[in-house]
Amino acid sequence: MHEYSIAVIGGDGIGPEVAKEGIQVVRTAADIFGFKVRLTEYPFGSENYFSTGDIFPDRAFEEVKGMDAVYLGAIGDPRAPVGMIEYGIIAKMRFELDLYINLRPIKLYTERLCPLKGKKPEDIDMIFVRENTEGAYAGMHGFCHKGQAHEVATQTMVYSRLGVERAVRFAFETARERSMKKQVTLIDKANAVRAHDIWTRVFEEVAREYPDISTDHAYVDAACMWMVKNPEWFDVAVTTNLFGDIVTDLGAMIQGGMGIAASGNLHPGRVSLFEPIHGSAPKHAGKNTASPVAAIMAGSMMLDYLGQKEAGKAIENTIASLLQSGRIKGVGTGDHPTNEVGEMIATELKSVAARV
Ligand code: IPM
Ligand code: MG
Repeated sequence: MHEYSIAVIGGDGIGPEVAKEGIQVVRTAADIFGFKVRLTEYPFGSENYFSTGDIFPDRAFEEVKGMDAVYLGAIGDPRAPVGMIEYGIIAKMRFELDLYINLRPIKLYTERLCPLKGKKPEDIDMIFVRENTEGAYAGMHGFCHKGQAHEVATQTMVYSRLGVERAVRFAFETARERSMKKQVTLIDKANAVRAHDIWTRVFEEVAREYPDISTDHAYVDAACMWMVKNPEWFDVAVTTNLFGDIVTDLGAMIQGGMGIAASGNLHPGRVSLFEPIHGSAPKHAGKNTASPVAAIMAGSMMLDYLGQKEAGKAIENTIASLLQSGRIKGVGTGDHPTNEVGEMIATELKSVAARV
């Protein structure tokens, strides 16, 4: 029986409580579909930093490198310096494990969850390929005359040929696999950010290798408009790190909110990281009110990535049917107790499996 080794980092705020439900569902799927998961829990996050001074010790990082996947709840604490723990944990893994794709599906499972008038599940089913190691996140920044009236701050957006090409190629491969429109939309801002010309050129070049896939283009500002007005125009979209960050929060809202949107930070073939796209929501922490659906969806993506496609799909289908029947009435904070949703999904998964 295949065994997968998985690092679990609950993290901050609501992270640990939603991750707990995700893990419960992953374990249930393992029992049903006949594989094993060996989980190693790490206490990393802001609380751990305050009490030990450690953010992500080298020894643990080395262990993680040898695992199959990392499953993360959420990171972020208003008491810590802005971005420090996020960079020390999430960004560290994205960069140092070279997780160059951030894959973010945006799928509406039931009309009731959509804030857009008249949009149905068939209208909202897209997947974002966010480049995940470069752009404005590459960390190249500096200050001069700090603290003075003429202070200057800079941050360089970095786009390498390799980084752009592998993201674009991944998008075309994804479009080929999906039995949908088979279309890839490039989202950039090449009309103002002149360096985005590299995206334009690489996209055109790679597209020539995929004559079966149609292409489209949108500047990021227009893309925000179209996602609200005509989300049915999108299938696979590829974009820069920063735009991907921003536009996928918008995407999360049109599929029902931050309580449902999940992501995979991937380096195909290597250890990869799965997390809900929401943050740590400190004011809701420990109250058992946060939606664990996004975290459970991240678990589904993880199993799919690990090759347990049937298990991943079964989790997704279970959530979809519980949402459609109204047994999960919403994915907002306070819609249900966190643990009850996890329990309901695990139980339903078992009973569906028992029927087939
Ligand atoms: C995300 C988050 C992160 C990002 C933060 C926590 C650094 O917003 O995964 O979308 O900006 O990438
Ligand atoms: Mg974000």
